Amino acid sequence: MKAIIHKAYGNPTTVLHTGSIDTPSLGPADILIRVHACSIGAGDWHVVRGTPFPLRFAFGLFRPKYTVPGNDFSGVVEKVGPNVTTVQPGDAVFGDVSLVGLGAFAEHVRASEDVISVKPENVTFEEAAASPGAGLAALQGLRDTAGLRPGQHVLINGASGGVGSFAVQIAKHMGARVTGVCSTRNVDFVTSLGADDVIDYTREDFGQNHGRYDVIFDAAAYRPFSQVWNSLTPNGTYVFVGGGDALLMRTMLLGPLRSRKNGRSVKIFMARANATDLQRIAELLSIGAVKPYIERVYPFDETPQAIAFVERGRTRGKIVVTI
Ligand SMILES: NC(=O)c1ccc[n+]([C@@H]2O[C@H](COP(=O)([O-])OP(=O)(O)OC[C@H]3O[C@@H](n4cnc5c(N)ncnc54)[C@H](OP(=O)(O)O)[C@@H]3O)[C@@H](O)[C@H]2O)c1
Repeated sequence: MKAIIHKAYGNPTTVLHTGSIDTPSLGPADILIRVHACSIGAGDWHVVRGTPFPLRFAFGLFRPKYTVPGNDFSGVVEKVGPNVTTVQPGDAVFGDVSLVGLGAFAEHVRASEDVISVKPENVTFEEAAASPGAGLAALQGLRDTAGLRPGQHVLINGASGGVGSFAVQIAKHMGARVTGVCSTRNVDFVTSLGADDVIDYTREDFGQNHGRYDVIFDAAAYRPFSQVWNSLTPNGTYVFVGGGDALLMRTMLLGPLRSRKNGRSVKIFMARANATDLQRIAELLSIGAVKPYIERVYPFDETPQAIAFVERGRTRGKIVVTI
């Protein structure tokens, strides 16, 4: 089968190439899916670059452990192992293989029942492929890590990106009041996602404007949480979703100390694929509570260029690759 091959860490357009490899073999609990589309998130360029360095403990210390990268996909089940009970050949599905060995940037991907969901009929393969990673991060970050409740006020920093655009829509669906933060060119886009208020970060600093939020969901954490600490309500929660590598380390070290001294808290989380949450995302897509915005669709052979595009950090919504 055709696949994107990853044998060394580095620049996506230099180290990745299209090649031909064997179709994955199946174990008793495995599912073979013919991929229709996959999507790219910030995590993909980190895996291709091998940065930040601690990521290599999971993905290969000196060279990539997994030959084919890619987490998020949609497609049609082609074969199932004898222990698989929830799907059968011909079912349209979508999922996230980040916990089961990657491999989505290929004509076929191997998955298991706990990292996929059936694709709703009224959702396109491109929309479904755009949804797992960003949807899981938004859902688990807001619901489980922040404990967001109806009526609370949440600020979503990085509201125009992949995770942020899902977070705005999911937070609205959860009954929260949402303030999105983005640059000037994305203000109308974030408003169209349903945000009640939008702050243009090129004109106004939410850390200095006297706004108070029950939750700050930071998907563009490029400054220390201490600079936005006073923007939390007395029992508010700051959630570090993603941003600068050094800031991640700093938040891991200093966050618990800060949290103990105050009613306010600092939290970090790592989204994990599971069938229940993927089914929840499928429901949200199917009822139209969440509509993925796809900025660009690339052909399969241009997957490295698509990853390089996302690495610029300016993507509006999601980037999808079709096969
Ligand atoms: N914790 C987890 O489980 C988890 C899961 C998935 C992703 N992540 C992390 O979450 C972060 C976001 O991922 P993503 O896929 O959504 O990234 P992305 O789509 O590449 O984000 C791009 C967006 O970020 C916005 N942005 C850039 N600088 C900004 C700033 N200073 N303030 C506000 N917005 C800014 C850009 O908008 P403008 O062009 O308007 O600036 C653009 O729309 C990444 O660090 C990723 O690694 C974490």
